[in-house]
Amino acid sequence: MKIAATESRIAQIDADAIVVGVDDKGNLSKEALEVDQAMGGTIAVLVGRKEITGKLGELTVLHAPAGIRAGQVLVVGLGSRDNFGCGEAFRAAATAARRLAEKKRKRVAFCLGDGWSERCVEAGICGAMSGCHGQDLYRREKNCHPFDEIQWNDGYEAVLKAGQILGETVNLTRQLVNEPPSRIYPESFAAEAEKFAEEFGLGIEVWDQPRLEKERCGALLGVARGSARPARLVILSHRGGSADDPVLALVGKGVTFDSGGLSIKPSDGMQTMKCDMAGAATVFGAMQAIARLELPVNVIGLAGLVENMISGDAYKLGDVLVARNGKTIEVLNTDAEGRLVLADVLDVAVERGAAKIIDLATLTGACMVALGIDVAGLMTNNQDWCDAVLDAAEACGESVWQLPMFPEYGEQIRSKVADIKNIGEGRWGGAITAAKFLEEFVAGKPWVHIDIAGPAFLENPKPWMDAGGSGALVRTLVEIARNWQNADA
Ligand code: BES
Ligand code: MN
Ligand code: ZN
Repeated sequence: MKIAATESRIAQIDADAIVVGVDDKGNLSKEALEVDQAMGGTIAVLVGRKEITGKLGELTVLHAPAGIRAGQVLVVGLGSRDNFGCGEAFRAAATAARRLAEKKRKRVAFCLGDGWSERCVEAGICGAMSGCHGQDLYRREKNCHPFDEIQWNDGYEAVLKAGQILGETVNLTRQLVNEPPSRIYPESFAAEAEKFAEEFGLGIEVWDQPRLEKERCGALLGVARGSARPARLVILSHRGGSADDPVLALVGKGVTFDSGGLSIKPSDGMQTMKCDMAGAATVFGAMQAIARLELPVNVIGLAGLVENMISGDAYKLGDVLVARNGKTIEVLNTDAEGRLVLADVLDVAVERGAAKIIDLATLTGACMVALGIDVAGLMTNNQDWCDAVLDAAEACGESVWQLPMFPEYGEQIRSKVADIKNIGEGRWGGAITAAKFLEEFVAGKPWVHIDIAGPAFLENPKPWMDAGGSGALVRTLVEIARNWQNADA
């Protein structure tokens, strides 16, 4: 998809549609005013009649407008000026794009960025690009038609380029999540990473089954045992800083399908479990963006890729696994597999010299019970590091909320047979007992765990996004990497 600047005279823009904005006080953006003047004041009349209120994401289509070369004008509500940030920029542009993508259109001009910050322009372009891509990968008759070209009215070339990179990498994450598990399994998923690592100059290591055994990744391999598909561990590296600069580690759960194993999930709960690799897909998207933006920082991205299946050789309840860091784990539920996979990957991140760690995982249904489906849960062993992550998410307009890590929760995962067990006592506080488990593998390094079980995958569409993979937190991870050079790690 091409991203270009618009022609300066709005009435002359040669596009299938022009998107303009109105805030919730009925103020037209500079470009909306220009369009409205050319059209003879229709938008102002509609605002006067309260037909257009400017509520965030409100859409009003004006077909075949007089005085304008473009085929239609789409007026999108921008909401309140005071609360306007990257999240609103993303949503406004994405909502407009999603509506327009219902039909085939070659060129859409977005004239929204009236004094928007550079970050808002980037988020807006990213929103426009994700709004016109959907989950209909294998439908012959598409629901969603990506535009050939997006034009943006405001912003330097570097900002347009950065917006395009964010859009492409958010869409990469979404697509990887939306692909069926018959196409994305550990080996093919690692191959996708190899492809883009080569293209964008990222270092990459892929550990196959023999290497994983040699590296004593007993927890990850325990999960993988029930599957006919061998496991992989991927290590991507971006060396944008100097050799002695601190390393930021991003770690993702990549369970390419979660049947639950012998603690099998009911069919309803299993239906969407192709999404259980979203953490890894998010890390891959962010790593690609970090490389393409040429950020002057050192970042490694690690992903543990397995399928959680059932066979005569599947791991069992009562099994004791020895994790890479030597800790022994009693398995009491094979559906609590994500933490087992992450246990070994976190240990590799520590060994590779991570100064600070963030992991992302569709880890627990309990996190969705606690926070709902739209908000990711944050858990940490280091409040300063968590604050940095909270700030980045806020700046990007992505919803996250911190959950407590009182020591008492840790008592619940003590085992009588092994060092720890892979579930808590009963289901209460399940998101936190899972995080307490992970904490056992970060060797005291500053670490933030992000449970994305809710927001990573939309069961129902939003006005601004199709159902399926959402790409949630890719932009936040990039923001964290952008701040990393100033961080005193
Ligand atoms: N992948 C699931 C968590 C999940 C649930 C993600 C719904 C997305 C949507 C995870 O592996 C899992 O099964 N967790 C169990 C843990 C329990 C057995 C302690 C859960 O949440 O029920
Ligand atoms: Mn599971
Ligand atoms: Zn899982």
